[in-house]
Order: sequence, then structure tokens, then C-alpha cells
Amino acid sequence: MLQQPLPAEITRLIPAETDARIATARKSLADDLLILGHHYQRDEIIKWADFRGDSLKLSQLAAEHPEAKTIIFCGVHFMAESADILTTANQAVILPNMSAGCSMADMASSRQVEACWEDLAEVTDTSRIVPITYVNSTAALKAFVGRNGGASCTSSNAKKVVEWALERGDKLLFFPDQHLGRNTAVALGLDADNDMLLWDPYKPFGGVTPKEVRAKRVLLWKGHCSVHGRFNVDQIAKARQDYTGVKVIVHPECPLDVVQAADLNGSTEYIIKAVSESPAGSVWAVGTEINLVSRLAQEHPDKTIFCLDPVVCPCSTMYRIHPHYLLWVMENLLDGVVVNQVKVPPAIAADARLALDRMLAIS
Ligand code: 13P
Ligand code: SF4
Repeated sequence: MLQQPLPAEITRLIPAETDARIATARKSLADDLLILGHHYQRDEIIKWADFRGDSLKLSQLAAEHPEAKTIIFCGVHFMAESADILTTANQAVILPNMSAGCSMADMASSRQVEACWEDLAEVTDTSRIVPITYVNSTAALKAFVGRNGGASCTSSNAKKVVEWALERGDKLLFFPDQHLGRNTAVALGLDADNDMLLWDPYKPFGGVTPKEVRAKRVLLWKGHCSVHGRFNVDQIAKARQDYTGVKVIVHPECPLDVVQAADLNGSTEYIIKAVSESPAGSVWAVGTEINLVSRLAQEHPDKTIFCLDPVVCPCSTMYRIHPHYLLWVMENLLDGVVVNQVKVPPAIAADARLALDRMLAIS
């Protein structure tokens, strides 16, 4: 579904006018509405969120609020899809701007993953492969995973989910983020070279050999996050040189060498907790999206907190949720009109739910 242009009457509002109208709509919609905000949302949006969270927490929150008739999901498309799958049929999930996608999720299509599975079936027993999809993927891929005995994971629970998968099968196929897959498997004691291969969906047979498929335990998909791909070990070396005692904390979507050079790694929620709970005077170099890092710095003036990448790196799709879009969907709700509803078709939702439920049970 494409995003329709907003009425000019909304796009010409200045921030103070937009805020005043959002506040009025928020009051009228009362408990019928729940607004969820991912940590990468800009401040002008996050201030309206009833709850903020990482992908896991927001999926759990969506599932825990059946009283809300409508959930406005300030995040990206795959998150709104997961919320729709986990909520009841009477609830509507709205994404304020339909063009807020995720470039990583776009790196694995159902067609490509199905083709990979068929290729693998020619050389190995796929009933012994457990497919794991990072939650940053379409509902259709979650459905594929659900149908094939696998589970979803987020950056918060990837370790538990991968451990679960390795106990259930001989191998796992992890998509779309090669880095989260590799970092997690290495943290569980597997070797990045000897135990893993990288499947490139744009090459015949993934660019690997049948022998490699049979030999390796972890089959990683060649996808990545363009924001976290910007972090590198030179930035970490520079931070350590410039700031004595600095702690480096990064998101596990960063490449393996970056995660290994950092002191800590974890989901957005984990990063926030570690930094917030550190003593006054602590110095943190953070390898994740800039809206989160800037907010942490503002909220903890007693600490030095900065982004590892000097050329700041916003997630351009998260940024597409602008207050004008939030106002537009809210005022439509006031008129009794649901715009931008994210609705996963029932057949896909049923299988995708299997993958999400398994993940939530393992978390
Ligand atoms: P979190 O689950 O850590 O919030 O990550 C989501 C995401 O898209 C990170 O790029
Ligand atoms: Fe997707 Fe990366 Fe943006 Fe997260 S930060 S939503 S993985 S593009």
C-alpha cells in the first residue's frame, strides 16, 4: 500500500500548531488509542508515545493491550505487521507513514527464501534445518518460518532462539541479517569461518557449494542494516584514544569485528539500560542510530555520551514518521476513519503467528 500525500492544510502547519492539534486529538481518543514508539523515532514523535521500546518489548506491549481499539505504531512496517499479528481481530494497527519500511527487511523476499530452501533441499535434508527470521522481515517470511518449524527472533532474544534452534536441528538458516546471525552464533561458541557460510541470494546456489552446505551448521543470509554497517573498528580505536575510560556499546547488527572490539553489545533496550544505570561521569561511545544516542545524551547530562560515527547516521525510514503523519492518522480516527491500517492477510498471519509465538515463548 502506497502512502497517499497529506492534505496541504496539514503539511503547512508549524510544529507548535501540529503539537496543539495532536494534543487535542490524543485527549479525545483517550484509552481507545495506544501509541507505541520505537527508540529510533525522533523526539517530536517519541514524546507522544505511551510506551517506548525495542522490537521485542513493543511486540509484547501490543499483545498485552487488548483494550486499545487502535494502536498507532511509530516505527517501521515490519513492526506494525508483527503488532497486527499479535493483536485481536477487533484491533486496528496503524503505521502513520506507509513508506516507513526497513532496507534490511527488503533484502530477503519470500521468493528468494523459498528458492534458497528448494536449492538446499537438493543437497541436504531440510527437515533438519531450522529457519530463523530476524523480526526485521516481512510477515510472509515469518509465515515461511512458522510453517517450517522455525521461529522469529529480535536482537534481545537472538541468543536464546539460536540456542533453541541448534538443539532442534542439525543446522539453522538465519535471515535477513548476516551480522546478527554471525554475532549470535559466535557468542554461542561457533566459529565464524569453520561453522558458517554466507548465502548470497543473487548468486546461483547462493554462491556456495553443496559440500559447504553439508559441512556448515549456520547458514547466514547476505543481508545487513545500512545504518549499523557504517560502524567500524577505527572509530572504536579513535574513541578509546580520545576518551580515557570510555565504554563502547554497539548494536549486534554491527559487523563481527566491531562487536568484538566493543565492550558491550545488545538491543536498543539493552543499550539504554546499560548507559542509564552507569554511574555519573561515565563516558559512552554508542554504535547505533543517532536519535537514540542523542536522546540518551540529553537525558543523562551527568555522563558523556556520543555516537561512534562522527557522520551521524539516522535510520531514514524510521525518520519518515513525521508529526504531520501522526496528526493526520489521529484526526482521521476522530472522524471515525481508519487510515494506513496494516493488516496481514489471515492465512499469512496464522503461520507467522507460529513463528512469533515460538519466539515469545523462548524469550
Ligand atoms: P531493536 O530490537 O534492538 O530495537 O532493533 C530494531 C532495529 O531495527 C535495529 O536496527
Ligand atoms: Fe532497518 Fe536498520 Fe532502520 Fe533498523 S536501523 S529499521 S534494521 S534500516
